[in-house]
Amino acid sequence: MVEVHETVAGFRRALAQVRAGGRSVGLVPTMGALHAGHRSLIERAAVEADVTAVTIFVNPLQFAPHEDLSRYPRPFDADLAVVEAAGGSVVLHPSVEEMYPVPIRTTVSVAGVSEGFEGASRPTHFAGVATVVAKLLSIAGPCRAYFGEKDYQQLAVVRRMALDLSLPVEIVGCPIVRADDGLALSSRNVYLTPAQRAAAPALHEGLLAGRAVAEAGEVDPAAVVAAVVERIAAEPEAALDYAALVDAETLEPATAVGGGQRLLVAAAFGPTRLLDNLAVITPPR
Ligand code: PAJ
Repeated sequence: MVEVHETVAGFRRALAQVRAGGRSVGLVPTMGALHAGHRSLIERAAVEADVTAVTIFVNPLQFAPHEDLSRYPRPFDADLAVVEAAGGSVVLHPSVEEMYPVPIRTTVSVAGVSEGFEGASRPTHFAGVATVVAKLLSIAGPCRAYFGEKDYQQLAVVRRMALDLSLPVEIVGCPIVRADDGLALSSRNVYLTPAQRAAAPALHEGLLAGRAVAEAGEVDPAAVVAAVVERIAAEPEAALDYAALVDAETLEPATAVGGGQRLLVAAAFGPTRLLDNLAVITPPR
């Protein structure tokens, strides 16, 4: 049975007791609407930690006023079944008032890594993410915390925040889970029309095309990015927002194709923005 806490104090106490008994905590922060991507994080935590806790909280702070906060899917009972099947045993499911009992006056913003890409089109988004993740990590206490590479910039922001604030956590990045046709699983995929859904694998195909150019020995990042853009531009349902080859840690644009880089892409399919990314491993030169 999964133990559900609606209060911060109860969840904090439960995890403190776990540690007091000499057992380790794995934490998986989510906004719910759990799919196989989330499930992979919970399963990994359940293998690596003694007790796996999942937070399910649609965080208003990370949505801009025009974004999809009110229509964000909230299938709580189905989510609990996913948590249980994946090996999670403790859930925090707080109300907005429980998480933000007074209007918040302290926020966490991570300079640099938050600023381009998603940060450029969603200027308040990463401060909302960093603030809620800082709160959740503070509430949970020392643990390993699992995040998906699916939201690659978010993972970089969280890693940097944990480092800068000396948080007593180990941040663990987990690989992207994809549908059979390559589309990265996302809670937002349910918004796609059938035509948009059919077109959406173009993102992954674009990334693969870019990686192939890099692996063939190309040194110019612009040529790698051009291969990504070309594939996505061939798909009329997709409106490309950005495609870039960046340093995997700092997300600074690459000046020459090399090791330790990541291809990032975002595109809109109608009103729905989808993200994807891929590690680029180049042969030694
Ligand atoms: P959410 O979108 O629910 O995602 C929760 C976690 O699941 C994130 O770490 C995300 O990267 C990971 N995830 C989503 N799809 C995935 C996939 N296809 N493969 C692997 N991992 C995947 O990200 C958030 O919530 C929020 O911003 C949060 C961190 C909870 C703060 O509110």
